Amino acid sequence: MARTILIAGNWKLNPADDAGALELLRQLKNRLAPFTRTEVAVMPPFTMLHLAAQILKDSRLALGAQNLYWEATGAFTGEISAPMLKAAGCKYVIIGHSERRQLFGETDATVARKIPAALQAGLVPVVCVGETLEQRESGQAQAVVHEQVRQALSGLPEAALRTLVIAYEPVWAIGTGRNATPEQAQEMHRFIRDLITDTTSAAVADELRILYGGSVKPDNARDLLGRPDIDGALVGGASLKAETFAAIVESGEIVS
Ligand code: 13P
Repeated sequence: MARTILIAGNWKLNPADDAGALELLRQLKNRLAPFTRTEVAVMPPFTMLHLAAQILKDSRLALGAQNLYWEATGAFTGEISAPMLKAAGCKYVIIGHSERRQLFGETDATVARKIPAALQAGLVPVVCVGETLEQRESGQAQAVVHEQVRQALSGLPEAALRTLVIAYEPVWAIGTGRNATPEQAQEMHRFIRDLITDTTSAAVADELRILYGGSVKPDNARDLLGRPDIDGALVGGASLKAETFAAIVESGEIVS
């Protein structure tokens, strides 16, 4: 089946202030208006979500958040819940980004708790998986990703799995300028899709979108997005400039 390409911009802890966010959002809205075949989402920091929702209403750009907590309310200082993100206008939420796993102690177990919370609130989880350089060089890349996917998806009903998005982000390719080759990315995406076929069904595996993330730039996007199992991109650095992000979206349009 033809899966609609999704290009999502993970802004991480950027830009420095609301004025920067406002400027970027306005530029994106203008530049992306002509593109209609590709789905596009931006994922700003929490405090910029309301502002972004206002600017993006009446546009084709969807909004996403970068993290959530699995409880809806309660004594959990510093946390943000799935219903809060939904109310702020989010459609997507990133779960288990490698920076959260490496810097903030997230594990496969916390990822597995966050996914149902997101789904219950009507958010689409963008579940991140990916191996470190050490794991790839010692031949464990597939085993690591297999375990991350297995733990993230176990116990989820088939209907939920169909809507979910997985992002394969090899840790060694994030923010390094060193992207996985289209062949390496395609190979891992195929591996993930086969895994989902084996554990659920070919129909679910065929519907579920698998994004690639890690140094996606205008000059490599088209080759990556042209591969049969790469259904979009989760873009970090290059999503912070309207020009580069729009060029990546344009690559998505060309291959759609
Ligand atoms: P870069 O595109 O900056 O490598 O970041 C990728 C990423 O982590 C997206 O979530």
